[in-house]
Amino acid sequence: MIRAAVVLWILSAVVCVGRGAHDPCHVQNTTVDRFNDGSAMVISANKEFAFHLYRKLSGLSDSQGKNIFFSPISVSVALAALSVGARGETHQQIFNGLGFNISQLSQSDVDEAFCTIVKSEQAHEHITSGTVVFVDNLFKTQPEFLDVLKQFYLAEGFSVDFTKVIDATNTINKYVSDKTNGTIEELVDSLDPSTVLYLVSYIYYKVKWAIGFDPALTKLDEFNVDENNKVPVQMMKIEEHFYTFDEEIGTFVLHLPFNNSFTMLLLMPDNMTTLENMISPTHVDKWLNVTESRDCAIYIPKFSIKTSYILNDVLKEMGMTDMFDHANLSGISELRNLTVSEVVHRAALDVDEAGATAAAATGIAIVKSACLMPDLKFDSPFMLMIVERSTKTVLFIGKIANPNL
Ligand SMILES: *[C@@H]1O[C@H](CO)[C@@H](O)[C@H](O)[C@H]1NC(C)=O
Ligand SMILES: *[C@@H]1O[C@H](CO)[C@@H](O)[C@H](O)[C@H]1NC(C)=O
Ligand SMILES: *[C@@H]1O[C@H](CO)[C@@H](O)[C@H](O)[C@H]1NC(C)=O
Ligand SMILES: *[C@@H]1O[C@H](CO)[C@@H](O)[C@H](O)[C@H]1NC(C)=O
Ligand SMILES: *[C@@H]1O[C@H](CO)[C@@H](O)[C@H](O)[C@H]1NC(C)=O
Ligand SMILES: *[C@@H]1O[C@H](CO)[C@@H](O)[C@H](O)[C@H]1NC(C)=O
Ligand SMILES: *[C@@H]1O[C@H](CO)[C@@H](O)[C@H](O)[C@H]1NC(C)=O
Ligand SMILES: *[C@@H]1O[C@H](CO)[C@@H](O)[C@H](O)[C@H]1NC(C)=O
Repeated sequence: MIRAAVVLWILSAVVCVGRGAHDPCHVQNTTVDRFNDGSAMVISANKEFAFHLYRKLSGLSDSQGKNIFFSPISVSVALAALSVGARGETHQQIFNGLGFNISQLSQSDVDEAFCTIVKSEQAHEHITSGTVVFVDNLFKTQPEFLDVLKQFYLAEGFSVDFTKVIDATNTINKYVSDKTNGTIEELVDSLDPSTVLYLVSYIYYKVKWAIGFDPALTKLDEFNVDENNKVPVQMMKIEEHFYTFDEEIGTFVLHLPFNNSFTMLLLMPDNMTTLENMISPTHVDKWLNVTESRDCAIYIPKFSIKTSYILNDVLKEMGMTDMFDHANLSGISELRNLTVSEVVHRAALDVDEAGATAAAATGIAIVKSACLMPDLKFDSPFMLMIVERSTKTVLFIGKIANPNL
């Protein structure tokens, strides 16, 4: 399948094997009441994490005027998979950072919850998602680590030679590009030759609107990047859709349902800062409840954007510091000098008259370190999310500051 990579295993049948007597991950169906308590806590923490990470990315000094778009669930899955091999303080920090309460959730609760989440994601016909781990052919991992990734995160595994940096980089990028239908072409920029393990979580989503836009109504218009700057955009037009005005945070909320159980929520605020500071899972619950349809014209730009992040600093700010310097990854290997060198995230979003295509991948590189260092018109900036309607899981979230970037 991939040159320069030897298959460690490939999952053909997706079977989650529980550690207890019961099968913890037997979900055919994303309805909330089918999840157990641990899974419900993890799902709820993932929702909070989405907004927490959004605020961190939006607060970066160089984020002014820039688009933001990422897949919080992809980041959560990748970090949860890393937590399987983390111990001590490193483990605790990842749990805290992801919002998992260590006195209520054990690692196996979390693994079981992600098994459920990953499996129900894969059950959606419009989503391609998964986890994959590339292991250096001379690196010996704790067998338990790979077993858990395989059984609970449904990960595929490949053996590669990381000293052949270019081949290894191409192998990972080709894999992710294939899985995301060419949308995320170069997840990895450059690999460190001391890499021993590379963990990836990817997601690809392509679906049509429940009610498409008429291309004949799309017209050249302007988007107000800020008070002084306008850029040209192709503005699509639709009539009669669900929308509401949220008085609490002064935001117009528009529903654009996809032709499945997902909805895109577009949020046009009076004041973007207020919206970004206040938005929470409760608001999403409230907004998804809006059912009154109004027939006035709605204009939305057509756009195609790509984003790229190195998450190291942001994750450190969220308390996950140890994994980047004195990491305890003794669940992955007995070597004491393993650290995470980089957490990268790339995403893409394409919105047109027919529907939307969204993709993202998160990569975590683990290296052997020598020194242990480590009317309503969406014509000005708006936020958007792709949310599953029954579980309210935030698959993607972003801000469109300039649709032409
Ligand atoms: C999912 O579960 C709910 C509640 O248990 C049930 O009503 C629904 O029909 C199920 N959907 C599918 C696709 O099995
Ligand atoms: C890693 O954490 C485990 C469990 O807390 C502990 O026993 C071990 O000594 C730690 N290893 C290092 C290198 O700190
Ligand atoms: C974690 O759970 C414990 C026990 O239920 C609770 O006392 C504590 O407040 C929780 N911590 C956080 C940060 O929610
Ligand atoms: C992959 O992308 C091509 C070109 O954009 C598109 O025609 C095709 O439908 C996509 N495949 C899937 C599985 O979404
Ligand atoms: C939505 O999906 C259904 C079934 O998959 C199909 O019959 C219908 O034509 C689709 N609608 C649009 C607008 O694509
Ligand atoms: C938006 O609200 C923030 C505080 O939430 C305030 O500092 C800022 O001046 C407001 N911006 C505008 C344009 O009103
Ligand atoms: C949304 O609607 C459901 C049932 O219709 C209700 O139980 C829930 O409280 C509502 N949520 C909010 C935030 O209004
Ligand atoms: C990491 O530590 C192992 C022993 O624990 C040592 O053999 C190896 O040379 C170290 N790696 C580097 C790059 O220093």
